[in-house]
Amino acid sequence: MMLHCHKVGAGLLPILRPMTVELLADRGWLLAEWVARYGSPLNLIWPDELKKNLAALIGVFTESGVAHAVYYGAKVNKSPGLIETALRAGAGIDVSSLYELRDARRLGADGARLVATGPAKTAGFHSELVGCNALISVDSPEELDDLVNCLPANGVVQPLLLRLLPTGQAMSRFGMPAEAIRHCLSRIAGEGRLRFDGLHFHVSGYRWDSRAAALREAASLIAESRARGFAPRMIDIGGGLPVQYVDHLAYQAHLKAQVPEDYRTGKVPGSFYPYGGALSAADWLRQFLHASMPKGCSIAGYFADEGLVLGIEPGRALADQTAISIFRVSRVKALSSDTCVIFVEGSSFGACETWFASEFLVDPILVPATPPSAMSKPMRGYLAGHSCLDEDVLCNRWLTFPMAPRAGDLLVYANTGGYQMDLLENEFHRHPMPSRLCVVQDANGQPALVPDTIGEA
Ligand SMILES: Cc1ncc(COP(=O)(O)O)c(C=O)c1O
Repeated sequence: MMLHCHKVGAGLLPILRPMTVELLADRGWLLAEWVARYGSPLNLIWPDELKKNLAALIGVFTESGVAHAVYYGAKVNKSPGLIETALRAGAGIDVSSLYELRDARRLGADGARLVATGPAKTAGFHSELVGCNALISVDSPEELDDLVNCLPANGVVQPLLLRLLPTGQAMSRFGMPAEAIRHCLSRIAGEGRLRFDGLHFHVSGYRWDSRAAALREAASLIAESRARGFAPRMIDIGGGLPVQYVDHLAYQAHLKAQVPEDYRTGKVPGSFYPYGGALSAADWLRQFLHASMPKGCSIAGYFADEGLVLGIEPGRALADQTAISIFRVSRVKALSSDTCVIFVEGSSFGACETWFASEFLVDPILVPATPPSAMSKPMRGYLAGHSCLDEDVLCNRWLTFPMAPRAGDLLVYANTGGYQMDLLENEFHRHPMPSRLCVVQDANGQPALVPDTIGEA
């Protein structure tokens, strides 16, 4: 049985794929068994969902005839299972730390499948990237100097992208303006051990039109570089493809109906991820490819005419529907005759939007441990973690529970694979790190768990 906990009249039911519905609706006992065995919170991963998300994006590239390179943004989730699935499905990996690089390498990625992003790469990271000849996105002239210093005297030629700071992002500390790109090109021209492969950018926010604007700037620098004798082959537009967590119309209605009293803080947060955007990631990509370039052709046409590969680095969009997070209720404490605080075994570090002064605008699902009694009445409450920090609140929104939750019940957040589930997780109070396991089908077609680690069966 699954019960939705929501603001009455303005629910934010999570969009679920069939395997999650089946598990939550028909196998609550199995979830309880798994939590008893592995502890709360428990993060479950369905790696195969990533394949479906990837196939949807590749389908758009194929229909528009655009040469492409999809790099899974490994920062989005700590799961090796997701990296492995991305690699097996033919994607590359966007790594932004030495440790992401090592995981990707141990899971079989060779340098040609990797792009390294991020502004603060260390000498150790550079040296392992150079060691496997991975594509490196260089963030600044300073990084270029450091990279040159770690190139072996007689090594193979090192491919790189230069990261553009688009004019619309002037306050960002990532990437470099056009003048610095030109300066780097001069430096590369005088260094036989480097090869300029093209440009990279990553724009904050989730709009395709801001990427289209950045691409127009990149295109004129690509033309300049060709005039100077370079042979770029790629423009990588980074990530930021959207995920639809809840129905678009329901989301609009919810935002419109929000009032400060909906929150125990008496304040509506200033910003939210667009949980109910109008576009799927595939439609977003379609819109981007149809956008026009200065000479009247579409972006798709531009890539074909220029013989360029379009790189993308989706993190969240590839992790869509790959995970759920399960919290066991430890205590329900009455605050008044019809309100309560629901303590869970786990903390807001494992459901982290409140730490960004925002809120995960997706309703949790209550899976009762035992069938509710006919006497059970609805109850309004908010969710708190097990630490002694007053800020340790998983959900500041007042939620109406169709029946009062009880200790032992499970609260499930769906679709937590994208930055949500364990980004800030730690061992505060010496609680062990939550378990993360992959859900697979056993020989009888039943759901079973396997470790989400490298090299363990
Ligand atoms: C350079 C770069 N690429 C890709 C991504 C992934 O973004 P998203 O998960 O929104 O697709 C990020 C996220 O910060 C990034 O900084």
